Amino acid sequence: MDRLVIQGGKRLSGSVTVSGAKNAVLPALAASLLTDQPCEIRRVPAVRDVTTMTRLLGTLGVSAEQDLEAHSCKLTAMDTRPCEASYHLVRQMRASICVLGPLVARRGKARVALPGGCQIGHRPIDLHLKGLAALGADVRIERGDVVVDSPSGLKGTVIDLAGPQGPTVTGTCNVLSAAVLASGRSILRNVAREPEVVDFMRLLRAMGARIDADWPAGILTVDGCSELGGASHEVIGDRIEAATWAAAAAATGSDIRILGIEPNTATATFDWLASLGVGVDVLDGLHSDETGWAITAFGRELRAADVVAAPYPGIPTDTQAQFAAVLTQANGKSAVNDTVFPDRFGYIGELYRLGADIRRVPTGAIINGPANLIGADVMASDLRASAALVIAALAAEGETVIRRIYHLDRGYETLDAKLTALGAVAHREEDEYRF
Ligand code: EPZ
Repeated sequence: MDRLVIQGGKRLSGSVTVSGAKNAVLPALAASLLTDQPCEIRRVPAVRDVTTMTRLLGTLGVSAEQDLEAHSCKLTAMDTRPCEASYHLVRQMRASICVLGPLVARRGKARVALPGGCQIGHRPIDLHLKGLAALGADVRIERGDVVVDSPSGLKGTVIDLAGPQGPTVTGTCNVLSAAVLASGRSILRNVAREPEVVDFMRLLRAMGARIDADWPAGILTVDGCSELGGASHEVIGDRIEAATWAAAAAATGSDIRILGIEPNTATATFDWLASLGVGVDVLDGLHSDETGWAITAFGRELRAADVVAAPYPGIPTDTQAQFAAVLTQANGKSAVNDTVFPDRFGYIGELYRLGADIRRVPTGAIINGPANLIGADVMASDLRASAALVIAALAAEGETVIRRIYHLDRGYETLDAKLTALGAVAHREEDEYRF
């Protein structure tokens, strides 16, 4: 088990290029189950969740060759007999549920362990199952597994995917995966509109799926076909990683450039940072070969600003922990609320250990700043809460040791190398303590 050691109080400088989006890659890898033709996914980040997904696909008869140097993954579904995703792998990564729709669509059945609980709150899959049942599948829960059968094939229909906290990202990917091979037309309403879902639809179209998208209305119209072909697809840049770096620059008063991100996929993030008084300029590639954002925070006082995380195009829930870390350095009182995962505040206790003036309230968190953060030993818990600890450690005085950084390795590629390339004093080392 490793830990990350950060000497805080250093300014960042230079540029960082984000990796391919983890949350676009995971459903894209699972889409290989929809065809017997070879698929190649490019710009695949070398993160733990990708390894878990390729391992899971291997148990489902998919030959998956990941090239870490080339950041690509070549996949071919060789054997269509396996249809069970074991609890052992699913419990390591909720996104394993992305294999459910493709398995039912092409193999006519699936048994997938129900994803367990996680740090960010209750995460049901009722909308996934509602969509598959609407398409004519028989859905039941058996001893902790969801068992789905569609012996006579799926039939197109109208499906509303809205849930109490808004649309479902992986639920949209699952139901869309099933609809593209159903007979007849399906109309999916209230679909998730995250850039990663749009990217996934582009891949399915490249595989031959017939999908008409009205994204502003949240409606996808699908004309099912009998089979799909292979495709080669490069995923979009990781907007959550981009937001994480922008938050690090804001919290440390640094000027950096964030490259490899399609500027229009992170507008809410950068509008929020601008409201704090951070300079945010689009790098459109016209005046240089760089596309992304230039963040200017050197010498700027940060104004307090509330955060309300919401479905796209709102502020992503995957960035609210990072933004809370920034707010510890802002002048005044800020409130953080998450309408997607209302309980996603596991990071509060560890930020408090670093000296933040932060407390949990029924609606989320209240933060007063600026706080003089002092380095300490802290414990990573989930992926984005751990990113918040990295940001706070960069802003803190002295040394911070972040333990259990396997949480970070799930979704951030070579984080320590990217940190040091930006001028941070950080390194990872073996943690002799077993927790
Ligand atoms: C995806 O998770 C992302 N993961 C999450 O990122 C992200 O936080 C989330 O979308 C929201 O944007 C991947 O894409 C792999 P949801 P997902 O279904 O699809 C409720 C990260 O840090 N809901 O969009 O599991 C649910 O409880 C991860 O990279 C139902 O009620 O999230 C939540 O409140 C964490 N019924 C809301 O909808 C359902 O059937 C949104 O969940 C499904 C979801």
